[in-house]
Amino acid sequence: MMATMDIPVTKVQKSRLPEVDFDNLPFGKVFTDHMLEADYENGEWKNVQIKPYGPLTFTPAMAVLHYGQAIFEGIKAYKDAAGNAYIFRPYDNFKRFNVSAQRMQMPEVPEEIFVDGMAKLISLDKDWVPSKEDNALYIRPFMISTDELIGVRPSDKYKFLIILSPSGPYYNAPMRLMVEEKYVRAAEGGAGYAKAAGNYGAAMFPTAQAKMGGYDQVLWTDATEHKYVQECGTMNVFFIIGDTAITPDLSQGTILAGVTRMSVITLLKDMGLKVEERPLGIDEIVAAYKEGQLKEIFGTGTAATISYVQELKYNDIEMKFSTDSWKTAAKVKERLTDIRVARAEDVYNWMYPVK
Ligand code: COI
Repeated sequence: MMATMDIPVTKVQKSRLPEVDFDNLPFGKVFTDHMLEADYENGEWKNVQIKPYGPLTFTPAMAVLHYGQAIFEGIKAYKDAAGNAYIFRPYDNFKRFNVSAQRMQMPEVPEEIFVDGMAKLISLDKDWVPSKEDNALYIRPFMISTDELIGVRPSDKYKFLIILSPSGPYYNAPMRLMVEEKYVRAAEGGAGYAKAAGNYGAAMFPTAQAKMGGYDQVLWTDATEHKYVQECGTMNVFFIIGDTAITPDLSQGTILAGVTRMSVITLLKDMGLKVEERPLGIDEIVAAYKEGQLKEIFGTGTAATISYVQELKYNDIEMKFSTDSWKTAAKVKERLTDIRVARAEDVYNWMYPVK
């Protein structure tokens, strides 16, 4: 760990906390009192500060608005029964953030700003960390290019921010997914592995089409053959076929390396399941369904946590499931939650205590 940076803090005059209904938290709509902000200029990070959450001012020529050099992360903090707050695996998101930064030709953010700054910010807004089951403090670090220039080139200046949102569940019911065969999220050599804002923007139209058909999300397939499944817009996917959990592998660089995905792989192995990370064809999924071997499908993500899939549609085939009887997804969700709220021992050192 690097030396701790002395980050100046300007506090709000009056907290908005009493206005928040913690029994009915939406996802991502309520923001805490403070945020972290830092600027990158002349090759170095400066003006690192924690200040009241509020609007930014910017020029209409700001580079990110035109060419989309923008990356982000999603992380969650939880509270245990005694009221202590913990961040889930911040170092893994920190590493992924800088992988995204590299792909988008943006500067790396140092650990002392990303992780230590985050911890300091959460420590200040600790009372905003929800304690209700299935709720958490959603942490959104992000970076944008800020040059005042409409020429196409990497910006010289950037802004890094962390905002915090006490949130309820992202999906409230088991999901209905449609296998996407026309549109593409990511191709080999593209930016699919980066958490780049544009990946999400480009997914909006295909997702809206799927929604018109009554589905919640699309399940992306490979760009060449539309044969191998990749991920959903907001989560990685797992298929329990027989006694094996299968999830698409990351080798093509088209799938986001989910931190929840990684954690679920570890926990499934602990539970004694075989886990395979490998290319998974839609034909194999359909065949397993027809043979009665496709037991469960679930998504994993920071926002989505573990989301059951009650229906998967591929062409005319509607694969439907009764999720109430699912054992594996339920068990892995329980194990993950227990670690996050300190009901189970944190054997993997995933939880970062907030002082
Ligand atoms: C997350 O799971 O944290 C994500 O970033 C997905 C979505 C909310 C954009």
